[in-house]
Amino acid sequence: MARIKMSKPIYILGIESSCDDTAAAVIKDTEILTNIIASQKVHEEYGGVVPELASRAHQQNIVPVVHKALKDAGIVKEQLTAIAVTSGPGLLGSLMVGTSFAKAFSLALDIPLITINHLQAHIYAHFIREANKQERVPDFPFLTLLVSGGNSQLVLMKDHFNMEIIGQTIDDAAGEAFDKCAKVMGMPYPGGPLIDKLSQTGNSGAFTFSKPKISGLDYSFSGLKTSFLYFLRDRMQENSNFIKENKKDLCASLQKTIVDILMDKLHKAVKQTKVKDVAIAGGVSANSALQKALENAGEKYGWHVYIPKLGYSLDNAAMVAVTGYYKYLKKEFAAQDFTAYAKVTI
Ligand code: KG4
Repeated sequence: MARIKMSKPIYILGIESSCDDTAAAVIKDTEILTNIIASQKVHEEYGGVVPELASRAHQQNIVPVVHKALKDAGIVKEQLTAIAVTSGPGLLGSLMVGTSFAKAFSLALDIPLITINHLQAHIYAHFIREANKQERVPDFPFLTLLVSGGNSQLVLMKDHFNMEIIGQTIDDAAGEAFDKCAKVMGMPYPGGPLIDKLSQTGNSGAFTFSKPKISGLDYSFSGLKTSFLYFLRDRMQENSNFIKENKKDLCASLQKTIVDILMDKLHKAVKQTKVKDVAIAGGVSANSALQKALENAGEKYGWHVYIPKLGYSLDNAAMVAVTGYYKYLKKEFAAQDFTAYAKVTI
């Protein structure tokens, strides 16, 4: 049994390595001290993350990233209270690097180890506090639209670690739709941020793409992806420069369609649950049109809306550390022989 420090403050080291970002963060209670991320450029030329290359890059990055997170936080490793690490879902090889490091580090320091569900961590990004800033954290219950490269879910957060998935994609995730449509237009991976950028000066009404007709609160994005592909194929037969000449309008129209689909179910979820505290989380929550749509809905319908701060929507370790803080308070510790999981629900 690891040594549990009773003294305040609580310093948690968060480690995240579930996909292609090696990240480490230090928090003091819920206040963020450092949030270090080493992103992997190696995947760009392949149009997606190559698992073996990701694992190797994590191995190179993990020690320097943790070292920098501690150094910039102005603390030494002996001051840490616990280590929180993402244990899934994600790429198994990538997860193994972070979890193996965390196990060894916690054993050496004789402090508790806390396993973190990556999806929950995205939601907990809303509980990160920055020094000298008074910001609202969500009140329970609150709704979260969790949208990333691998997930699109509507989650009802009833209390800490008491959550219910009330809707989810039946096929592709919203981030996947952004990335795959971007790839069809010849853009590098990940295409989501680039589509967002090009959309700023595009006409979102230039083209219309069909929206899925799925009942209830579930999502579907595979049909949109296919119809986008066929639409481009037909237009390119008529004019081989079609994508080049219309890229900004294509991006803006596609982005509008995805945001409309996401917001439509979010409205339904608010109606159904009567919960008006509404958050967005995950990589796609960085999308400017989605943020604007949520802000507009907040103003129009009196919702309290929560948008992750810059740097906390994409994969990061600050969200892992803050989730670890709340698990630390509940004394939910992991044994040294825990395993990482590629697939695990929220
Ligand atoms: O949460 P995340 O960093 O990784 C996981 O999937 O866990 O999300 C990555 C996804 C990618 O699909 C990326 O294209 C998308 O988030 N993304 C965006 C934007 N920034 C990142 N999609 C649309 N607009 C953005 N600004």
